Amino acid sequence: MHTPDDTMCRPLKAEEFAKIRRLAYDTFGLDLRNGKETLVSTRLNKKIREYGFRSFDEYYRHVVGDSTGESLIQLIDALTTNHTSFFREPAHFQFLKRAVLPEWAKRGTAIDIWSAACSTGEEPYTIAMCVLEELGASAAGRLRILATDISTRVLEKAEQGIYPADRMDGIPGPQLRKYWLRGEGDWSGHYRAKKEVRALIEFRRLNLMEALPQIGPFPLIFCRNVMIYFDKPTQQRVVQRLTGRLEPGGYLLTGHSESLTGIDHGLEYVQPAVYRKPPSDSRKRPQW
Ligand SMILES: C[S@@+](CC[C@H](N)C(=O)[O-])C[C@H]1O[C@@H](n2cnc3c(N)ncnc32)[C@H](O)[C@@H]1O
Repeated sequence: MHTPDDTMCRPLKAEEFAKIRRLAYDTFGLDLRNGKETLVSTRLNKKIREYGFRSFDEYYRHVVGDSTGESLIQLIDALTTNHTSFFREPAHFQFLKRAVLPEWAKRGTAIDIWSAACSTGEEPYTIAMCVLEELGASAAGRLRILATDISTRVLEKAEQGIYPADRMDGIPGPQLRKYWLRGEGDWSGHYRAKKEVRALIEFRRLNLMEALPQIGPFPLIFCRNVMIYFDKPTQQRVVQRLTGRLEPGGYLLTGHSESLTGIDHGLEYVQPAVYRKPPSDSRKRPQW
């Protein structure tokens, strides 16, 4: 959709586009292919006007010179989409219910789940509701969800756990009543995740392009709808990093439009957008 502002913008020159393309690729793995010039021009011109820079060069120098990294994050926010929703790609949550959670119910051990690229939080809150529904409220004692994203802006929203009522459509009524509080007064028309649900999720900033901190291994990692921004070599590196943080027998869930075809990952294909690290006892015998 074009805003009135879009029509006023000057297209980026080829060398300006090339600079942004290189910066976005090197720092975030973002693959701005040729053909994205108009989109990039529109979004950056908006940023340049918003912050009162006089030229592209001035804006660019500011971004690369900002040692806090915040301007870079704002740039990535402008160039990517944070679109998400509760129970997005429901096949994944049906899979959890059918195949994973019954296994975990028997196991009785800690449940650590990583939602990588969690955006505004709908994904980790959905995971929390799913686990609590299937394993019961007592599972809260052993459930921890690490939810990460590169963007501090989305993480702030996610941590608040407040959403307008029209975003709650995907949540079944009984779960809405059980896990959410309806806002009143200034907050009418909004819902907030109950404190005990928010307490299950730790939000942290993490760039999937960088070496991972000491986290995991996890029995389940969600990394959905972010790899579409990466080219194959970057996807390869990210999938390898994620695989390294999966426990044997653990699952990696990707977005349904993100195929791991052409990527060397060592995971077993389970069903569309679900991959499993081979359990350790099924490892191949060494050859000699
Ligand atoms: C479209 S949202 C996906 C949200 C959620 N996983 C889902 O499927 O609904 C993509 C998210 O990836 C984040 N992102 C983009 N590049 C990233 C990177 N290099 N490391 C971590 N997160 C990144 C964006 O900030 C955005 O919130």
